[in-house]
Amino acid sequence: MERKEFLNKLTGGIAFTCVACMMEACSKDSASAGGSNSGGTAPVGGGTGGNTVLLTVNLNTQLLNVGDFISDNGVIVVRIAAGNSVTSFTALTNACPHAGYAVTYVKTSNTFNCALHGSNFNGDGSLKNGPANSGLTKKTVEISGTTLTVK
Ligand code: FES
Repeated sequence: MERKEFLNKLTGGIAFTCVACMMEACSKDSASAGGSNSGGTAPVGGGTGGNTVLLTVNLNTQLLNVGDFISDNGVIVVRIAAGNSVTSFTALTNACPHAGYAVTYVKTSNTFNCALHGSNFNGDGSLKNGPANSGLTKKTVEISGTTLTVK
């Protein structure tokens, strides 16, 4: 009897704790989606505070030619012009706003495509065709010497 009572109390306590955790998690998701104005880029949106380095690129060996790109850690960075200035690159979240599938870059058309349901995005990340209803979120490019970082 005492053991059963103990287990009942313990189970009730766990259930209460889990409900509290879920409520807190939901409120955090809402806050970051609104704050980042990302329109639902699930894999990256929650983890970026604006100063987190998402990708580091050695410009001596990577992204050497216009149209070269790297997609990793929730972002995609493309060389769009010669030179090593921040305007030579575009960095965007690589998660499709529709359902979070990773987009790929199409060099010949300077567009980003999502193979899952067919959304397309222009070279600047803006929406070209749905079903996604918003573009890819721009990320910050910083360059120090020959090291490019995406934040
Ligand atoms: S996840 Fe990209 S179009 Fe649906």
